[in-house]
Amino acid sequence: METLQLNEKDPKVASLAAELLRAGQLVAIPTETVYGLGANGLDPEAVAKIFAAKGRPQDNPLILHIADPCQMEDICHSIPESAWLLAKKFWPGPLTMVLPAKDIVPKCTTAGLPTVAVRCPDCAITRDIIRQAGVPVAAPSANLSGKPSTTTAQHVYHDHAGKIPLIIDGGPCRVGVESTIVDLTENPPRLLRPGGITPEQLTEVLGSLTVDKAVTAQIDNDEIVKAPGMKYRHYAPQCQVIIVSGSTQAAANYVAKHYAPGDRVLCFEEELSAFAPFAPLSYGCQADTNTLCAGLFAALRILDDPTIGKVYARCPEGGGIAYAVQNRLKKAAAFQVVNPEDSL
Ligand code: TXA
Ligand code: MG
Repeated sequence: METLQLNEKDPKVASLAAELLRAGQLVAIPTETVYGLGANGLDPEAVAKIFAAKGRPQDNPLILHIADPCQMEDICHSIPESAWLLAKKFWPGPLTMVLPAKDIVPKCTTAGLPTVAVRCPDCAITRDIIRQAGVPVAAPSANLSGKPSTTTAQHVYHDHAGKIPLIIDGGPCRVGVESTIVDLTENPPRLLRPGGITPEQLTEVLGSLTVDKAVTAQIDNDEIVKAPGMKYRHYAPQCQVIIVSGSTQAAANYVAKHYAPGDRVLCFEEELSAFAPFAPLSYGCQADTNTLCAGLFAALRILDDPTIGKVYARCPEGGGIAYAVQNRLKKAAAFQVVNPEDSL
């Protein structure tokens, strides 16, 4: 199949994408977080194509994307007041809410769960497409399963050329990591995945929030987790990734001691000169965590190269948006973190 790539500003893009979606086809859509691989979320055959194209495990449910917050009522029941409060404050935007699913949502979309994840993305063309398609759009991140997420149309083309009919190019994603997921079927609500809406912002609206274990620790394959996607090795280049914490100097000393030819360093822009002998790649500025968020997946995709040995990675500290960067990098590193200052 030929894969057509169209710019989001092309006047025929929304109607063509909506037509393909209604016909049960896949369309790669831009969002403010990452590119999604979209299908009609109410059509089991269309949803099955997403799982096939990504090589995604069947037990990993999909997020339904809506054009307008009131569409929540089409697919969810028993919607708590807190969901409307969050929608008012953060939608359209990088927040996904897990709510009780109506029967209209097929089991393959929810992977058989009684709940459904729902999000209204902050991307005008994609909301327009959803509106014109007239159905909620199921869309996982468009990467092949287990690989770093897609933050440009070129990433999507790399993973799916010849397999899907249409990719819509909306430029590089503004946020760069996937949406924050909060489960509102529990009391207090539970953070299942950190993202562009921070735990601090959620707590301001919700009062309290618990953090799922899968956010901060490695989960065994047989453990039962709330967001099934969180247990898989994720976001990862094929080589081993090791996070080296501590000061720039201590980390540079550690890398100098362990470095072998073919290894790489993933670091902050400000550290490029300190790591100069060790093939450093910057993913953004330490002084502006948003740039780290926006640059992380593109960098991890560059490092997804069979000729690379190990990757020593630098990770921002603290809360806010840094929490999402830490989560993705730690998952890429299978939670392997060394602190060279510990042994001083
Ligand atoms: O930013 C995003 O959320 C992107 C863009 C395309 O919108 N989408 C995305 O989808 O990241 P995906 O499939 O890569 O990640 C969805 C996550 C998975 O970890 C999945 O297990 C979890 O959401 N999930 C989906 N439905 C769920 C449910 N009913 N209960 C708990 N977790 C759920
Ligand atoms: Mg994903």
